[in-house]
Order: sequence, then C-alpha cells, then structure tokens
Amino acid sequence: MKLWGGRFTKETNQLVHNFNESLSFDQKFYRQDIEGSIAHVTMLAKQGILSREDKEAIVCGLKGILKDIEEGKLDIGPGAEDIHSFIEETLTERIGEAGKRLHTGRSRNDQVALDMKLYTRDQVRELDGLLYRLLKELLTLMEEHIHTYMPGFTHMQKAQPITLAHHLGAYYEMFSRDRGRLHDLYQRMNYCPLGSGALAGTTYPLDREYTAELLGFYGPTLNSMDSVADRDYLLELLSAMSMISMHLSRFCEELIIWNSNEYRFVELDDSYSTGSSIMPQKKNPDIAELIRGKTGRVYGAFVSLLTTMKGLPLAYNKDMQEDKELAFDAIDTVKGCILLFTGMISTVSFNRDVMEKSAKNGFTNATDAADYLVNHGVPFRDAHGIVGKLVLFCLEKGISLDDMSLEEFKAISPVFEEDIYQAISMKTCVEKRMTIGAPGEEAMRKVIGIYKKALEEKPL
Ligand code: ARG
Repeated sequence: MKLWGGRFTKETNQLVHNFNESLSFDQKFYRQDIEGSIAHVTMLAKQGILSREDKEAIVCGLKGILKDIEEGKLDIGPGAEDIHSFIEETLTERIGEAGKRLHTGRSRNDQVALDMKLYTRDQVRELDGLLYRLLKELLTLMEEHIHTYMPGFTHMQKAQPITLAHHLGAYYEMFSRDRGRLHDLYQRMNYCPLGSGALAGTTYPLDREYTAELLGFYGPTLNSMDSVADRDYLLELLSAMSMISMHLSRFCEELIIWNSNEYRFVELDDSYSTGSSIMPQKKNPDIAELIRGKTGRVYGAFVSLLTTMKGLPLAYNKDMQEDKELAFDAIDTVKGCILLFTGMISTVSFNRDVMEKSAKNGFTNATDAADYLVNHGVPFRDAHGIVGKLVLFCLEKGISLDDMSLEEFKAISPVFEEDIYQAISMKTCVEKRMTIGAPGEEAMRKVIGIYKKALEEKPL
C-alpha cells in the first residue's frame, strides 16, 4: 500500500519501485523513526490536536512494533517504499483508525530529516567514545615509552633523535583534534527539524520546542525550508571522518614501514596479522593495509554527497535520499577502523633496541654536534660545515659520530674536547630538548599530565 495512492490511477512500474525504494537501507533507523513518532504524537496530544486515547493507542502500537522488530518477530519485508511507510502501515494494520492519525502535521520530509539526524547523533557519540578509548590506549603507551629512543624523520631520512612517546604523542594530538571536530558538529547539528512539514511548516498549532525537548535537542530549527533541505551536518561528519581516516591511514603507513623486514621497529601481533597462501615465511600487515585502503571509501562518500548537494534547489529533492547509503557505509567503515586500529596498536611489540640503534646509526645527533661547536664560539654556519665533514668521514669509514676517536674529531676541528661524547649521546640529544612540545622527559611528562586531565572528561 502506498502513502500517496489516492491521486494515481496506475500501479507503479516494478523497476520504478525498485529504483525509488529506500527501505532496503533506511530500515537501519527504524528505532529513531519510532522514537520520533512517539515524540510527535505526545506533542500532538498535549496540544489537543490528537485525542488522548488515539495517542495512547499509537504509542502502545509503536512500542509493540519496536519490540517485535528487536526480538525478530516482525520482518521488515520488501513491499514498502521506505521505513516511514513500513512502520505507519504496520501500525495501522495493528491498531486500525488511530494509526492513520499518526502523520497529522508531519511530512516525510521533516520525518526523514529528523530520523537521519537522530541516527547521526547516536553515531557521533559512538565515534567519540571509540576515539576516546584509542586516546587512552595511546596515553598508556606514551607513558611506557618516554625513554624509548628512535630516529625522527623528515623526507623519510633520519633527522634527529626523538622518543616513541613523542612520536605517538603526535597522533594523540591528531585524534584529539578529531574529537574536537565531532564535538563542534554535534553542537551545530543538535536542533530538531520536526514540525517543518514538507517545506513550509504546518497550520496545526504544533509546539516545536516541546518536541525538540522530548528528543533531547537544544531547540527547534528556525527555518522550515532549510530544515528539510539541510544535510550540512552529514557533510561535516563525513569531513571529520575523512580526517580520522587520513590520520589512521598515516599511522598505518608508518606501522607497515616499521614492521617491514628492513626496519623491524615493531612486530605486529599474530592475532592482528595474516599469512600468505604460498610463501610460508610471510606475516603480513593486512589490517593496517586495509585501514589505509578504506580511507578512499570514506573520502569517496564525502565527495559524493558534496556533489549530490551542489545543484539542489530548495527545498526537499529526492536526490537527498542518496545521503543514506553513503553516510551509513562511511560511519560503519570508520567505526570498524578505529576499533581494529586500537586493538592492533595495543598488541604491537616495539623493538626498543632496533629503534635506538637506528637512531644512533643515522647521524641523528649531527645537529647536536653543530650546537656543541656553537656553544664553544663557532658561528653556526661554520659549525654546519665542520659537522658535514665529520659525517663524510664517518660515511667513508662506515661508522657513526660516537665511534670517532677524539684525535679524529680534532683533526677536523680543534674545538672538540672529551665532552663531545656526552654532548652527542642519544640521552643528551633527547633530554636537552625540554621546551614544551619537545621529546625531553620533562616536557613529555608535562604534556602527558595535560592529556590525562583532558581525558577525565568523559566522551559525548
Ligand atoms: N526515503 C526518502 C528520503 O530518504 C524519504 C523522504 C521522502 N519524501 C518525499 N517527498 N518523497 O529522502
């Protein structure tokens, strides 16, 4: 049965029905649809637009439908056009006349705007919770690795020594900004579109403030045309999720490199790796690769929906039905990625010795050798040149700066004394960097303290 059959004299072509229907995917928000309808009729009854008996019958019927769907007793079959029709039809079948009054003062346009918002709001909370747990995990690892030295890179070339805690801290920053974006968009989206009707409001004396309050919104939206045509909050979420994916992908890329035979900085746990069907020696970082790969899908959803929206005149247009599959897929993908990533990072083992050795062998202390000369009165430009010569010398001999004898140092510059060894030791190089944001222990502990405090506030 159609919600709009009255004006039509012919049946819908089957292909048209298949092309037009959204039930196959919008059934995902059956719970939100019922929740919205219960709030709507509660408001209608309070305003005297619906009798108390009809309201009771409708609420009871809707709760029954919810329970039956959840217990698997009611199948969301393929006949209806969308979840809104399915629930309204089922309600009317079950409770008769009263069911037909459910849609008073409402259009599917404001109904779908509400359902999608309610669903998205729940998902924003879930995403925030998942990121919160990831941050906690990162913080634990950071505390463990304040003294795990490793090379920091620029241009994928060893640059200066850092610590693993410092490296992980960079990702901590990224994921906390991601949470910030979720919090921002939550604030902006949390207004209720219900009561906007098809586009121009309704002639019934609805109490939109009351409906908004019942559904936990800050208040009603203020323009009925925008209310049914706005998908900005979804685009904001897709954009925020694209950033989350980008950050996860960068982190995965590093883990893949670090896990390679050449680097060996980390070893992914067996439970988060896979093997090869032909090469018995292989242990592949498939999960990290998949998370990196799925980023494309999330960006795709963002660009698709942006493109869909760009040409739409006000107010509702059916093009907007395309928002659902894109958003649902992106949300499920990103949730899965954060969850899997958290498991992977909390089980990975870090090869501290390999990391430290790599930092030692890569001239990451060259800047500190130059700083030593500067501290002994040599102008920085000259110091840079002298250390360049030291590096050339070491490269030829296949040794690191620390391995040079004092005579060899002195042959290149007489300024060097015995204390050069201490000045360029890994420990000194890292621990001397104490300004806030740097890897030295003092700075790191301060920052960890700030993060800990921030995490005392629970997720959305
Ligand atoms: N399935 C539709 C959507 O997702 C529901 C709204 C239908 N409204 C309409 N006027 N046909 O957008």
